[in-house]
Amino acid sequence: MIELRAEQPDDRWEVEALYDLCFAPGREALSSYRLRDGVPPVEGLSEVARDSDGILAAAIRYWPVLVGGTRALLLGPVAVHPTRQGEGLGGSLIRDSLAKAEESGWSRVMLVGDAPYYQRFGFSKLTGVEMPPPTNPERVLGLALQDGAWDGVQGQVTRWPA
Ligand SMILES: CC(C)(COP(=O)(O)OP(=O)(O)OC[C@H]1O[C@@H](n2cnc3c(N)ncnc32)[C@H](O)[C@@H]1OP(=O)(O)O)[C@@H](O)C(=O)NCCC(=O)NCCS
Repeated sequence: MIELRAEQPDDRWEVEALYDLCFAPGREALSSYRLRDGVPPVEGLSEVARDSDGILAAAIRYWPVLVGGTRALLLGPVAVHPTRQGEGLGGSLIRDSLAKAEESGWSRVMLVGDAPYYQRFGFSKLTGVEMPPPTNPERVLGLALQDGAWDGVQGQVTRWPA
């Protein structure tokens, strides 16, 4: 039995440790982290998945960003513990949190990731949306939570104002 719930302040360091385990060393040097510096993750959308013993199995976080001055959600990092990968947990966290994002009025979501994985959730390549370099433009993906929400939204992705 896996329970999904909103990340709480007490979850913070366990989630960081999970991300350290699942990503290459130096993950915080990635350009996407410059968009997160000094900005808290979006409350209620960032989620953890724990098993019946309370062991952290997976986590997802979201940050607010601006794309050419228009607000958007930046999905990620999302990570599933190596012993729990391939069980559908990543998909459950992504679907559950995207539904919450839609319910809470967000219109568009973007991320930097593997299109072959994220296309199953409806993500596709965004054109004209520029992440801070170095980012492979092929990996910049978006999902409209409301019809046409990405139409005409282009430009540099910048940090949410403090
Ligand atoms: C990527 C990740 C979040 C997926 O979570 P998961 O719970 O293992 O995945 P799910 O069980 O929801 O889905 C499994 C499916 O995704 C596919 N998949 C997983 N990672 C993939 C990738 N990078 N590219 C393409 N497909 C991928 C699997 O092949 C499997 O396909 P199938 O349904 O056809 O068998 C997880 O494997 C993980 O934490 N990886 C390490 C960290 C990472 O890369 N995070 C994403 C950063 S962009």
